[in-house]
Amino acid sequence: MVKTTISVIKADVGSIAGHGLAHPALLKKCEEILENAKEEELLMDYYVTNCGDDTELIMTHRNGEENEDIHKLAWHAFIEATKIAKELKLYGAGQDLLADTFSGNIKGMGPGVAEMEFKERPSDPVVIFACDKTEPGAFNLPIYKMFADPFNTAGLVIDSSLHNGFKFEIFDVMEHKKVFMSCPDEMYDLLALLGTTNRYVIKRIWRRDDNEIAASVSTERLNLMAGKYVGKDDPVAIVRSQSGFPAAGEVVEPFAFPHLVGGWMRGSHNGPLMPVAQKNAYPVRFDGPPRVIAMGFQIADSKLIGPADMFDDPAYDRSRVLASEIAEYMRRHGPFEPHRLPADEMEYTTLPGVLEKLQDRFEDID
Ligand code: F6R
Ligand code: MG
Ligand code: MG
Repeated sequence: MVKTTISVIKADVGSIAGHGLAHPALLKKCEEILENAKEEELLMDYYVTNCGDDTELIMTHRNGEENEDIHKLAWHAFIEATKIAKELKLYGAGQDLLADTFSGNIKGMGPGVAEMEFKERPSDPVVIFACDKTEPGAFNLPIYKMFADPFNTAGLVIDSSLHNGFKFEIFDVMEHKKVFMSCPDEMYDLLALLGTTNRYVIKRIWRRDDNEIAASVSTERLNLMAGKYVGKDDPVAIVRSQSGFPAAGEVVEPFAFPHLVGGWMRGSHNGPLMPVAQKNAYPVRFDGPPRVIAMGFQIADSKLIGPADMFDDPAYDRSRVLASEIAEYMRRHGPFEPHRLPADEMEYTTLPGVLEKLQDRFEDID
């Protein structure tokens, strides 16, 4: 039984102007390297894109998840792209490559990874999401809605192939632990965790009826550095749709609501997640607001047919206007919470230094 693996591996290895847009020369270099790998039959297919300053390698192959050759290929592509980024003096050249040499698995080396392996159905639509200026927990709300909220996904109520619900794998990225929970039975307990988006993140989802994989999210750097909050990692996700999974329209529907996510400006502010066409995946205003793109593919004998740029749709115009209004409202708070993140979640902070300086001036309140 031949199975297809989709590996989405992403890294920020340099951008213009500032932390803005991955330079086309980087995408071209990655394409060249993945094209060679396709000719050598390591890859079945690939598609290279970017969301803001992050370069995303979308790859299909037959080698399964966590395959050393595939991870090494992605690492090599990012290293070669970094060389160009350095020549062009791009901003943050090689910033997400945290190791000097590849050591078997790209996880924990900086890039984000979402993968899934499955036996193709007669027709297999898949949506790849990529975000910039946010963190993996940004997917908690929309992915929960896709797979557990009947007000979003009509199929949970009226399609018998979804009616038994889905099983969630949740990572506690602080304690480096995981837990499996099922919906709808454990919905309230699940939400008690998922609301804490910087700690509990959805990693994978399966259909309960037959344990078929449904979704996979990148969480890598966060879960690796257990016990220490290491900041935001712009995440990617793979979601299967139709015929026993949420319909494509149910998969993209949650993003019509631009919910607040952490990660805007200096990884230290909350802002609305704006769904955009890929051409608008360029966060400018105050380095944001955070963006998400949705690339729809059909998987055909491990080939990627597509993409359809799913948020390039006038039906999302109102969501973008709403996101702009929310962005305006949040910005007016300047350095105050809840626009600025709580002190323990900020990527940059001078607070310890300020407190140290004031140490001798703090007096007891009588
Ligand atoms: C947010 C982000 C940017 C940078 C900001 C400051 O995730 O990437 O908002 O944090 O542009 O960048 P530096 O410190 O490199 O000047
Ligand atoms: Mg950057
Ligand atoms: Mg980024």
